[in-house]
Amino acid sequence: MSNEQPVDSLSRRRFFGGAGSVAAAGAGGLILGAGGATAVGGAVANAQEPNPAADVERLQAASAALSYPYYGTHQSGIDTPPQDHLVFTAFDLSATTPTELQLVLAKWSAAMAEMTAGRPVGKVEPGREQGVPVDTGEAFDMGPQGLTLTLGFGPSLFDARFGLAKFAPIDFANLPAMAGEALDPAYTGGDLCIQACANDPQVAYHAVRNLARMARTSVKTKWTVLGFGRASAGPTQKTPRNLMGFKDGTRNVSGEADFAEHVWVGEEAGQPWMKGGSYLVARKIHMLIETWDEDPIGDQQSVFGRTKQEGAPLSGQSEHDVPDFHATVAGKAAIAPDSHIALAAHENNGGTKILRRGYNFTDGLDSVGRLDAGLMFISYQKNPEQFVALQRKLGSSDRLNEYIRHVGSAVFAIPAGLPEAGSYYGKDFFA
Ligand code: HEM
Repeated sequence: MSNEQPVDSLSRRRFFGGAGSVAAAGAGGLILGAGGATAVGGAVANAQEPNPAADVERLQAASAALSYPYYGTHQSGIDTPPQDHLVFTAFDLSATTPTELQLVLAKWSAAMAEMTAGRPVGKVEPGREQGVPVDTGEAFDMGPQGLTLTLGFGPSLFDARFGLAKFAPIDFANLPAMAGEALDPAYTGGDLCIQACANDPQVAYHAVRNLARMARTSVKTKWTVLGFGRASAGPTQKTPRNLMGFKDGTRNVSGEADFAEHVWVGEEAGQPWMKGGSYLVARKIHMLIETWDEDPIGDQQSVFGRTKQEGAPLSGQSEHDVPDFHATVAGKAAIAPDSHIALAAHENNGGTKILRRGYNFTDGLDSVGRLDAGLMFISYQKNPEQFVALQRKLGSSDRLNEYIRHVGSAVFAIPAGLPEAGSYYGKDFFA
């Protein structure tokens, strides 16, 4: 993936909290060595005796204090460097009036500001014995942990129930049926979604739990996926691997120009609230892990078009070598035309790119004892058509299809970021 994206994101987004050391841990990386902690860039210099416990404590403190701004042009959690953990939840509304919906959105917007700053959403210990805690408490004192909360609106939000049809973005609809799907309604659709990402799973879980709880008379949780392993990453962290053992995220949308061209919505949605927003596609993709694990390495590599250890394209040597889809070996294409990267690369799709920001997931064992695991694929794009065009091709021809099943699916319009305290998502709908 990108070499520039996280660097750009980091320079754009300021860290709160532990200022120098946090920024060093995020942007430059703390190096732990025999001489104690040294920050790249010289923010921390410690020539004392080795003290691994202190190093670990310092790193933990830096990670806990990491915080991303909540107010801004774009919602965070899109160009933010991927955190370790994901809780993705789609909700259906049980609310029946626009006022109830308005209340949910206003309450959530304010609570999201608190939690992303590492604060509880209300009292953990009410002042009287009979008082029920407002905040459930499990993230108390843990710090923001890089928490981002990204809110989305499903196509169904704009149906007849709340009178919002005139606020729907142009052409916003459920994804069409596509080859290679075996969708389970239990993991499909939703009126609203929250993508919670944080470096601590409990902090991400706490956020979604408390949002659901404060709106319990108006929203019902429809489906949830807990993700881990930063299936997409950048140069501030080595490219992480998916559960098939391959580096995932090597080539991705990167840098402001790419984001402007492929991810951020401009005027074309026909709705001011979408300008600076994006569209999120979520696909819960089950991997047939036992079958994959018996596949010889030569075949595994030609399925993706890359080597397993290094992640190099089969036309090159190193991970970040640009794939050459015309290169041949012994008269045959070095990267098979039906390999995953040959079918998905922008060079072979009229320049189409999407930002992939997925996470690995595992739900234990299925009913017959097989591993229930895979990729919670999340992509952001300026228009859902970008995803649909790629998935149509992958769904019909990708060699990877033998080892995966798309079991869940949803698309959400992600409104632009909030300008300031007091504003809330969807405010335009109720003016
Ligand atoms: C379980 C399912 C999937 C797995 C395991 C997977 C894995 C991978 C891997 C290992 C790479 C190569 C490294 C990289 O550049 O990141 C890759 C690239 C890519 N994947 Fe997937 N992927 C999956 C699903 C999808 C889907 C559903 C789409 C979009 C419809 C997609 C779009 C792409 C794109 C655009 C690239 C970059 C290709 C390039 O420019 O070289 N992938 N994927």
